Amino acid sequence: METTLESSFCLAVDQAVKEGKKISMITHVLGDTGEEKLKYILSTILRKVDRLDLMELLYTSAKELIVNSTKAAIKRIIFEDMKFDIRNLGDYEQGMKLFKTNLNDRKFPSYKKKMKEHGFNVKISCTYKNDKFDLEIRNNFPLIPIEAERIKEKFLHAKKYDNLFEFFMEHGDNTEGAGMGITMVEILLSQSGFDRRLFSIYSSEKRNETIARVEVPLKQISVAKSTYEQLFLD
Ligand SMILES: Nc1ncnc2c1ncn2[C@@H]1O[C@H](COP(=O)(O)OP(=O)(O)O)[C@@H](O)[C@H]1O
Ligand SMILES: [Mg+2]
Repeated sequence: METTLESSFCLAVDQAVKEGKKISMITHVLGDTGEEKLKYILSTILRKVDRLDLMELLYTSAKELIVNSTKAAIKRIIFEDMKFDIRNLGDYEQGMKLFKTNLNDRKFPSYKKKMKEHGFNVKISCTYKNDKFDLEIRNNFPLIPIEAERIKEKFLHAKKYDNLFEFFMEHGDNTEGAGMGITMVEILLSQSGFDRRLFSIYSSEKRNETIARVEVPLKQISVAKSTYEQLFLD
């Protein structure tokens, strides 16, 4: 759905981009307006650095990573409400059953208020300097060991695929919510001709945060795999 952004928002973004400022947005559950704002921020920056070709990669990656961050927060809310200890393996299994049966994307917005009450938010930041674009999606809590392990597995799994076509051939396109966010971001980077290691997820207990980061060199002429091959299906 198209929404119209307030002109004061657009003007403020334009000005900040002109001044080369870091641009951040705080969200809880990204809705239509949030998506439009994110799109506006990304496209304004990318237009400035003359790399609008990176829009698809960065916007899709940001959305996947924001959903992961929102889901992680909702998971913690469900555990806290049920008085389950998220770091206890038995509790974790029980809690995850509830999390999975009770939750689908459509229910996310109903958790917005609770996220605020629990003090959870998702911070999206864009920096662009020294010919590098840096996208960060931050949760204000650390990962638990099981999540860190799952993330490690996903990173290993993604190495198998060079492009989304190969991935869909093996998994079908029935992948929504089927655990492919991290894989997707890696494949998109690789498919755009970038090093997969430009995508990382880092967590710190001390700083009480988890940050998913996608760094893209702006001056590198990426030989996108899609530019030297046009692939059709019969
Ligand atoms: N920001 C995050 N906080 C906590 N756990 C995360 C985060 N991002 C990813 N994870 C963990 O990594 C797993 C894999 O993520 P992903 O590949 O996007 O698949 P899916 O979200 O469909 O499970 C998640 O299920 C979750 O356990
Ligand atoms: Mg995901």
